Amino acid sequence: MTGELETLRKQADDELLKAETEAELQILRTRYLGRKGLITGLLRNIARVLPADRALFGKECNELKDEISARIDTMLADIAVSKKRKALDSERIDVTLPGRGIRYGSLHPVTQVREEICGIFAGLGFSIVEGPEVELDYYNFEALNIPRDHPARDMQDTFYVDENTVLRTHTSPVQVRTMEKRRPPIRILSPGRVYRRDSDVSHTPMFHQIEGLLVDEGITFGDLKGVLTVFLRQMFGEETALRFRPSFFPFTEPSAEVDIRCVICKGRGCRVCKQSGWLEILGSGMVDPEVFKNVGYDTEKLTGFAFGLGLERIAMLKFGISDIRLFFENDLRFLNQF
Ligand code: PHE
Repeated sequence: MTGELETLRKQADDELLKAETEAELQILRTRYLGRKGLITGLLRNIARVLPADRALFGKECNELKDEISARIDTMLADIAVSKKRKALDSERIDVTLPGRGIRYGSLHPVTQVREEICGIFAGLGFSIVEGPEVELDYYNFEALNIPRDHPARDMQDTFYVDENTVLRTHTSPVQVRTMEKRRPPIRILSPGRVYRRDSDVSHTPMFHQIEGLLVDEGITFGDLKGVLTVFLRQMFGEETALRFRPSFFPFTEPSAEVDIRCVICKGRGCRVCKQSGWLEILGSGMVDPEVFKNVGYDTEKLTGFAFGLGLERIAMLKFGISDIRLFFENDLRFLNQF
């Protein structure tokens, strides 16, 4: 029987040496010390031991039990310590490493130009008004004196949602919506997205415009020239030469397009200004009495002027960008430059 005890001790010794994990040790604990374990098994057979040897046998069994139990406890404690050390090692913070730094984004060039223009006009007392991008035919065309057969309504130019609804082709419908709701004096600026079926280096199906409208008693073409001159000089520099060129818009009369001296070649003639020395910047004019009639304004008393400009075009000139499509490709290599 003492021989069996010796064998068991050896076996436990071997197995304990091989055990590496907590789980393995728990299994060994049950295997040797559990209620149905090997040592308990030996004790249960104590009847087979000579009565004289029983006391010693029992004592030796209990010693082996304590020995194995103590070893398992020590091994478990060691495992716990090394586990903790590993965790601490892996979580160690090297305070000498350089910081990660906060990466700043930047405003899109079109947003920058919009904010700059809105800022200049805010200084002139204009307030910002917005209108819907999905617009009724009435506001986009009809009320602006653009009749059914006008070429601007051509399917080639306009995105129709249905017969009476379009994606607005310009920001001018906001003029009409504002005048329907308010009485003069009116001084508004309306930035927003507009849509046209057009796509090449200088056209995208969606782009941005800003509309301006000023209506009051006694407003003249002189006011239009004055306000737009102040604006363009603030935008492009005090020395900027301007040119007001007669033009046509169905909703203004008279109408004028405004050019600035080419910012690239300073008027000598280049590819951007198509050798003319001038850059077309905006459309403008005195509000046509037909438009006033549509919103119930007294055409005898009230006059006003309106203007509209494309933000991408201004941003292209300001930042020297030659392809309008770059604005909408979300290429970080492009956007990071602003
Ligand atoms: N809406 C015109 C366009 O898109 C611009 C414009 C606005 C012209 C206001 C005159 C007055 O071309």
